[in-house]
Order: sequence, then structure tokens, then C-alpha cells
Amino acid sequence: MSARTDKMKVGMFIRPAGHHIASWRHPEGHADAGANFARMIEIAQTAERGLLDMVFCADTHSVFTAHEQGLHRLHYVAWIEPFTMLSALASYTKNIGLVCTASTSFEQPYTVARKFASLDLVSGGRSGWNVVTSGNATEALNFSNEPHKPKDERYRRGKEFVEIVQALWDSWDDDAFIRDKDACLFFDPQKMHMLNHHGEYFDVRGPLNVPRSPQGQPVLVQAGASDDGRELAAQTAEVVFTAHATIERAKAFYSDLKGRMARYGRDPDHLKIMPGLSITVGRTHAEAVEKQEQLDELLHPDVGVSLLSTRMGHDLTGFPLDGPLPDLPPNKVIGSRSDDAIAMARSKNMTIRQLYQWFARQRGHAGFVGTVTEVVDQMETWFKEEACDGFNFLAPVFPIGLNDFVDMVVPELQRRGLYRTAYEGPTLRDILGLPVPQSRYARDSAAREKATVSA
Ligand SMILES: Cc1cc2nc3c(=O)[nH]c(=O)nc-3n(C[C@H](O)[C@H](O)[C@H](O)COP(=O)(O)O)c2cc1C
Repeated sequence: MSARTDKMKVGMFIRPAGHHIASWRHPEGHADAGANFARMIEIAQTAERGLLDMVFCADTHSVFTAHEQGLHRLHYVAWIEPFTMLSALASYTKNIGLVCTASTSFEQPYTVARKFASLDLVSGGRSGWNVVTSGNATEALNFSNEPHKPKDERYRRGKEFVEIVQALWDSWDDDAFIRDKDACLFFDPQKMHMLNHHGEYFDVRGPLNVPRSPQGQPVLVQAGASDDGRELAAQTAEVVFTAHATIERAKAFYSDLKGRMARYGRDPDHLKIMPGLSITVGRTHAEAVEKQEQLDELLHPDVGVSLLSTRMGHDLTGFPLDGPLPDLPPNKVIGSRSDDAIAMARSKNMTIRQLYQWFARQRGHAGFVGTVTEVVDQMETWFKEEACDGFNFLAPVFPIGLNDFVDMVVPELQRRGLYRTAYEGPTLRDILGLPVPQSRYARDSAAREKATVSA
């Protein structure tokens, strides 16, 4: 194993009742969590007590399934809009990062730049944007019936979108606002930058009507794993959330993505790769397994089939649950995670039921079940063997799964020297060990000065 000296990063992937699809039915699950902000405060404060890097909210723009069967038995269909929630959570927390999703397919760059810069100001430098191109075909139906674009087009638009947002965040130099009452000078016009962007998908004049925020640039997070997704991440992302069920796949992804960064002149340490990880701990291995089985038993077959159908992009209703996955024609809308799951199901001869149970637990992410020692051993191996820089933690059931993590797993990670014992600083960049990017205009003028001197 490598002698890594950096610390493991751990995000908390928030989901109302929990990450197991049946979590809302668990005796200790909070079935009302999607509509109850007090639950979210409790979760965020517990994560902060455990010194986790960030609260991470995924998001979509539709009820999250393409298949109606069993829909009324699903809990993850309606919840508080994440941006609103994080803005409110900023007042209930002090250190933890606040990261949520905004889609490059359904939003506009100007409003996204404005919102995340504002969240950065509101939270004292803790905001991050999870850039997604949106892979769920039902979302387009809520946007004036625009057909869902194929993936390569979504990523082309996404790339232009991110470039604009980052440029808008540089609209004002750090010292642009003089606010000199006597001289009646509010800002220095030399330090305000127009954008005048004209591209394939967007025309944006700028500048942004939000002052420069504490981090300068909120942290850019990305979650696509296809070739297009990796390229966008290598070029722009500072955190990548990803889904790998095995260490081999995670290692291959890690070295591929970090290797791509050189092409863009980027330092591999400036990108933190954090696969999703579901953890179930028990005092004994048997107790942990029993906890997981208890949840599996709460999963209704209609929900399982609906979940799998959505993931596969094909309606699997009517196929025998204990039979194999049928041959599925290629589907352009679904992403790399479903392709991986199909390959796994075929190689292990999994039945439809086994595959939907697996998805219901961890949706293609890794899952560690066992004692604290067993779980932390695996986390340490993934970290030290460079399969990741940390994890995005998925609690099977909130709040108990998170409490177990904070009270049992974090102390063991700390004991082994793998994890922080205090927050490193006030901003998300401090916590993640990411540099503050210099404004492109400062970079340009430094380059101009250098050219003049050498000429
Ligand atoms: C950990 C993780 C979180 C994600 N969060 C979201 C999300 O909040 N909203 C969304 O629409 N897609 C989300 N995605 C999907 C990706 O952004 C991407 O659209 C999908 O993986 C398909 O692209 P790909 O084939 O490049 O992976 C997430 C993916 C991962 C791995």
C-alpha cells in the first residue's frame, strides 16, 4: 500500500429518509423527511459533528422514475428543493461544505453562477456546484416538451455552460468594490469585467450582479463517468462523485481521470475523487448483515421492478423476478452506471430480484457491511491503493446510519490517522485542500506584464 499522508475526504450524500429505497419504512426511518426541514438540520449538524467535508444534495427535475408501477410506494419522489434547503442550512451550520446539483440541460448559466456565488457569500465560503447534464428522460417533459438531448449534445452544452459560469464568477476583481463615500466611488470600473460570450448554445453579456464571493470560485463538483463526463471532469472539476461497486473499477477510473488532467495543465491533487459508499456497521458482522436484510425485506417488488426499469431505460414489468435479466437493446439516454450494472448482472448470473435489491441498497455504488474494523479496513485499502481520495457516504437510513458513521466509523478513521480531527479552515476549499483559483483577468494581466518585461 502507498504511504499517503493526506487525509481522507468524506461527503454526506443527503436523501430524505435514507439511501436504501425502503428506508422510509424502517421503524426508525423518518418517513416525513422530504417535507420536514427540521430533519435536515439534524442530519447536517450530525455530519458537522463528525467533521465531514460536505453535505451533498443530488437533484432531478421530475418525479424520479420513468415507470409508474409501484410509484406510490416510493419515498424519493418529492423533497425540498436543494438550493433553497442549503441556503437555509447555511445558518444552522458553521463549517461543513454545502454542495448541490444544478443541471446544465435545464438551467441558464447566468442564474446558476448567481445562485452559487450568493450561497458562497451567505455561508462564508462553503458552496459547491454539482454539475450534471441530467440523464433522466422524464425531466425534459417538465420543460415545455423539449425532447431530451442525446448525451454527446448534453455534454457539449454542459461544457460551454461551465465555462460561462466560471467566467462570470471572475466578473469582479477581489478589490473591485472601493465603496468610498467621500469620493462617491462605489467600484473601480477597471476591475469589473464584461463577458460578451457568444457560443453554440448561449449568448451572455455579463458581468455577474453578485460581488466576488469568499472562495472566488465556488467548488466545482461533477458526477459523470462516461468518456464525455471524464473529459469535462479532467478539464474543470475539483471533486468528482462517482459510482463503483468494486475496487478494481474504482482504481481504473481514478488513474484514468487523474491521467487526463495533464492535457489541461492541471495538477492531479487539485481534483478529489470520491466514490459513493453505503456503510452498514454492526457490533458483529452478523449484526450488520441482519440490519441490511431487515431493510431488504421492506422492499416492495413493484418498487424494485420500477427502480430497475428506470435504471435500465426499459420496462421490466412482467418478466419473472427470479429469472435472468432479458436482453436489452442499447439505450442512449441512460449512463455508464447502468451499463456497469448490466455487465455485473450478466457475469454473476443475477436474477431480476437480486439486481433490484442491489440497486435498492446502493444504486451502483460500493457497499461495505460489517464491524467497524472490517469497514474501515476496506476504506483504508481503497484510499491507500488510490481507488479514491475519500468517499461520498450514503447512510442506508437517516438518522441512524449517519449516527453510526459519526460515532463508530469516524473515531476509528481518526485513530488510524486517516481522517481530520478538526476542520482545516472556514471555507470548503480549505477543508478539501483545494487552491483558490486566480481570476482569469489577473492571470491575463500577469501574463501581459511578463511578456512586456521579457520583450
Ligand atoms: C454520485 C453521483 C451523483 C449524481 N447526481 C446527480 C444528480 O443530482 N442529478 C442528476 O441529474 N444526475 C446525477 N448524476 C448523474 C450524472 O451527472 C450523469 O448524468 C450520469 O452519470 C450519466 O452520465 P455519464 O454516462 O457520463 O455517467 C449523478 C451521478 C453520480 C455518480
